[in-house]
Amino acid sequence: MKPWRTTMYRIGNSEVTAVREAIKSGRLFRYANMTGAKEQSRVEAFESCWEKFTGSAHCLSTTSGTSSLICSLTALGIGPGDEVIVPGYTYIATALAVLKAGAIPVIAEIDESCTLDPKSLAELAGPRTKAVIPVHMMGMPCDMDSILRVSREKNLYVLEDACQAAGGTYKGKILGTLGDMGVFSFNFYKIIASGEGGALITNNRKLYERAFMEHDGGGALWPDNDDIKAPFFAGGNSRNSEISGAILLEQLKRLPGILSDLRMVHRTLSGLLEPAGPVHIAPSRDTEGDCGIQTTLLTDDTVSMRKLLNLLGEAGVEADSPVDSDRHLFYNWDPILSQRGAAHPLMNPYKMPANAECRLDYPEDMLPRTRDIVSRTIMIRHNIDWSEKDVMKTAEKINRCIQKAAAS
Ligand SMILES: Cc1ncc(COP(=O)(O)O)c(C=O)c1O
Repeated sequence: MKPWRTTMYRIGNSEVTAVREAIKSGRLFRYANMTGAKEQSRVEAFESCWEKFTGSAHCLSTTSGTSSLICSLTALGIGPGDEVIVPGYTYIATALAVLKAGAIPVIAEIDESCTLDPKSLAELAGPRTKAVIPVHMMGMPCDMDSILRVSREKNLYVLEDACQAAGGTYKGKILGTLGDMGVFSFNFYKIIASGEGGALITNNRKLYERAFMEHDGGGALWPDNDDIKAPFFAGGNSRNSEISGAILLEQLKRLPGILSDLRMVHRTLSGLLEPAGPVHIAPSRDTEGDCGIQTTLLTDDTVSMRKLLNLLGEAGVEADSPVDSDRHLFYNWDPILSQRGAAHPLMNPYKMPANAECRLDYPEDMLPRTRDIVSRTIMIRHNIDWSEKDVMKTAEKINRCIQKAAAS
């Protein structure tokens, strides 16, 4: 097995210095500053910067993308009796968060862009459906115009899962800002990373306050938080730490460089590729806004996909297919497909009387289009440190593989 990297892209001395300073400051907790100093905590400072970067009125940083999803769903009032539509290609956490809120995930098809198919959303939205979670997988923007149109028609909340898409845009707007709420993950395998961490954003103060209360059950009792006016309810603890805040403030400075380098590779590589025979470039809902993590190819059939993937492997090009990614495909989501929705039987949303009228079953042959698309898709992984010359060499290798695949 290859050794795991500490983060997906860039981390270094400035993060080390920031963490050292955070520890030396004696302040590791965002509230109730024990040192007596007046300055913002590092988590709060990150929240302010993320609000500015995304152009959102409110940001709440949490311990993870999952906890940000749960806090957002709670804020939106999602619970037993509600269905939430999620795509069949996303990390399992998107669907698990819906169960944590007591609601039922209804799983929709993706289209050839590997993101939620708005047609499937329109077909699936039913009387119990209260929200949709479009997921900008691998930094690829969803077709937000169509998703927002359907959501308006069907009266659905839109919670964007931008966990894999920090800084991506759709028609010039930052991903996560197009719906009612947006969430981000900063775990080690994300565009910016603090090991673990997350954030949610919204322009709605009421939603922010409810999310805040869910993220910190006792938070409203700290003197720092006397501006939280939402009615008190029992929340949990998803507070982000000052160590994570210190790292994120440094990562944020790196984000524009990370995105511009990834996008340079993406733009250059896509321009040089010569699709042929059964190999095509996959459609994108916004090529400019895509974070540039990978170049996505679409083949005509699974046999061609496997053939090309093998050729790429032999040529030393880092590539894989979503069909091989375990927890990101709905048919591997065991606890969901087998309706084990919680540890305690009475907390299992699939058994709750309030959910009796929701669609609880996941037929074995569900989502044929998603199965077909992922089995024909190849993702070429970009190296952020490639120069234009490196990209040209890689493009030559890929083109040779495409030619061989087309000829065989
Ligand atoms: C699309 C998506 N949603 C949600 C999450 C959950 O984020 P976290 O691991 O920070 O809880 C992830 C993390 O990999 C993800 O990729």
